[in-house]
Amino acid sequence: MRVALIIGTRPEAIKMCSVHRALLAQRTESIIISTGQHSDLLDTAFAALEMTPDHDLKIMEPNQSLSAIASHVLERLPSVLQQVAPDVVLVQGDTTTALAGALAAYYERILVGHIEAGLRTYNPDNPFPEEVNRQVIARLAHWNFAPTDVARRNLLSEGVRPDRILVTGNTGIDTLLRVVERLGPRMTGRPYVLVTLHRRESFGGPLREIAGALLDFLAEESDAEVLWPVHPNPQVQAAAAETIGAHPRVRLCEPLRYTEFAMKLADARVVLSDSGGVQEEAPSLGKTVLIARDTTERPEAVATGQNVLVGRDRARIGTALRDAWNKPPYTGRLPAPNPYGDGHAAERIAAAIADGAC
Ligand code: UD1
Ligand code: UDP
Repeated sequence: MRVALIIGTRPEAIKMCSVHRALLAQRTESIIISTGQHSDLLDTAFAALEMTPDHDLKIMEPNQSLSAIASHVLERLPSVLQQVAPDVVLVQGDTTTALAGALAAYYERILVGHIEAGLRTYNPDNPFPEEVNRQVIARLAHWNFAPTDVARRNLLSEGVRPDRILVTGNTGIDTLLRVVERLGPRMTGRPYVLVTLHRRESFGGPLREIAGALLDFLAEESDAEVLWPVHPNPQVQAAAAETIGAHPRVRLCEPLRYTEFAMKLADARVVLSDSGGVQEEAPSLGKTVLIARDTTERPEAVATGQNVLVGRDRARIGTALRDAWNKPPYTGRLPAPNPYGDGHAAERIAAAIADGAC
């Protein structure tokens, strides 16, 4: 049995890492095909996770369009798939790499397994274009590996066959727990808000609103700092630098290596983010994520009160930041219980593929 993993962006590498390891552990051949939708971020993630792509399509361009990503993957992936001849292609999540990868595999008549299947907001503008990407992947996939029961129910409501869905947990939690186990003792400095923002629908006005809320918060909380590893998208870089980059208690930095980011997450007092992966990881570390979005496809931790959907309005985010900042910090033993996974998702996926059981 030969499985090809299609990976294009940082979170795909982080979430596929545990799948790759689980496949190899059961002696299934696992071939990594990078589209290179991300260059720097992906190389850094691969290095941190000790993964080496077997093939790299190298498609990234500065300020790339969605059509350019999709068309370059569709142009370059089929010949690699013909050469590798996998029995199964696995795609992860909702990126344009995942959509184009699934479509190319389907055209080559190779079975597609979709990891992190069934996440939905049912709002095509939010997140854009991820909501439609993942809905289309569900039409192309043979196997749907749903991280939670909510995701499974979404797929069932769309007519996906129950025997083609397996609830596994999120593979990103497997990766996180493995890394966190190895974190050594850490320095405790000034308390900080950890920020990550990159969603396309927030470019422009919403990013300025969010930054404004951070400035209001810093004005009121004189001991607080902000740490923001800035996504390399030129639109995000410019917004971060122009809005709050000059504040003396704001530290803008390059994206962090995954292991270092996990440490910063574990040490943060509050997290403000529009990231999907961070919404899943932070609860494992007992952290609250203020989700700077209007909707989320990850409602489980919002339902338990661990995460809070705060939208993109300056006043509302400012209030939420102050409330979260002044709550007593989580002091339980790590990791905390997490609705997104128990650390064994990848093993379930690998076993299902080996058995042909899904
Ligand atoms: C992509 C995914 C998004 C995912 C995010 C994870 C799509 C449509 N979007 O968004 O779902 O949440 O990755 O981070 O698939 N850039 C670099 N170096 C890098 C990466 C990006 O310079 O390593 C810059 C380039 O100018 C690139 C731009 O950022 O053109 C945008 O990258 P892109 O992959 O299109 O979008 P993301 O916002 O990263
Ligand atoms: N991450 C990282 N370094 C950083 C910021 C984030 O390694 O500086 C990791 C984070 O732990 C999570 C993933 O990147 O696993 C999330 O990626 P991103 O927010 O870019 O994408 P999304 O999850 O929203 O698709």
